[in-house]
Amino acid sequence: MVNINDLKQEWATLAPKWIKEVREGKHSVRDGLLDLVMLDACGDVEGLSVLDSGCGEGRFCRKLVEREAAEVVGLDLCEQMIEAAKELQSGREQYLVHDVQDLSFIDNEIFDLAISYLNQCDLPEFEANTKEVFRVLKKGGKFVIANLHPMRSASGKWYRNADGEKLHVILDNYFDEGERHWEITGVMLTNFHRSLSTYVNTFVNTGFILKEIIEPTSTLDMLDKYPDLDDELRVPNFIVFVLQKP
Ligand SMILES: C[S@@+](CC[C@H](N)C(=O)[O-])C[C@H]1O[C@@H](n2cnc3c(N)ncnc32)[C@H](O)[C@@H]1O
Repeated sequence: MVNINDLKQEWATLAPKWIKEVREGKHSVRDGLLDLVMLDACGDVEGLSVLDSGCGEGRFCRKLVEREAAEVVGLDLCEQMIEAAKELQSGREQYLVHDVQDLSFIDNEIFDLAISYLNQCDLPEFEANTKEVFRVLKKGGKFVIANLHPMRSASGKWYRNADGEKLHVILDNYFDEGERHWEITGVMLTNFHRSLSTYVNTFVNTGFILKEIIEPTSTLDMLDKYPDLDDELRVPNFIVFVLQKP
């Protein structure tokens, strides 16, 4: 069982490659697919105070500032990510190294909007993060979460034929929630699989209203620009939850 320091070390090891690839536009699932869905789910952010829980090197915080958010606070466990975010920081972003499972340094009900962009799947206790975000959101505030799709986070790999052709995605061990280990650009990374019902029941039991579930898929237009998004036409890789504090 990994602990928070192991997880922090994994991200520290991955960070230099990750930051370089993000900034070279090599994360087509973000640039070509998820950004559109996430921005649409956030709606008009002009004048809003926003929390980005697990902001990485700050790419989505910068997008929110470009869309006239009044202030964006980005939190991440990984020092290297936060240092990189600060390099491109405008006057309306603030970046802090912090574990998003404990936001006790933030007062109640101060953010209009919170986002979590592929971060809850990295947390051993996503329930703690959900409860903390609920607390720091103003009444009526939205929490927009992009996660690995539970059908993919369970096992995730493609079953291929002898020629290496992708036949179908393997779905197995779905009810065995917990740690999964993946290799990303040569670095071993741990994340956490949960079933769809665990996610939804936790959000609802925390007090959130579930406004929408989105399973992003690609369009033929997207494939012209990002041909490697063709898998997304066949099986969902991600899921987006739009929650609201009553
Ligand atoms: C998949 S990356 C996503 C980064 C960013 N949201 C993006 O989409 O580019 C996950 C991020 O979560 C951060 N992270 C992992 N565990 C964390 C924790 N307990 N608290 C805060 N950040 C964490 C990692 O350091 C990493 O930057």
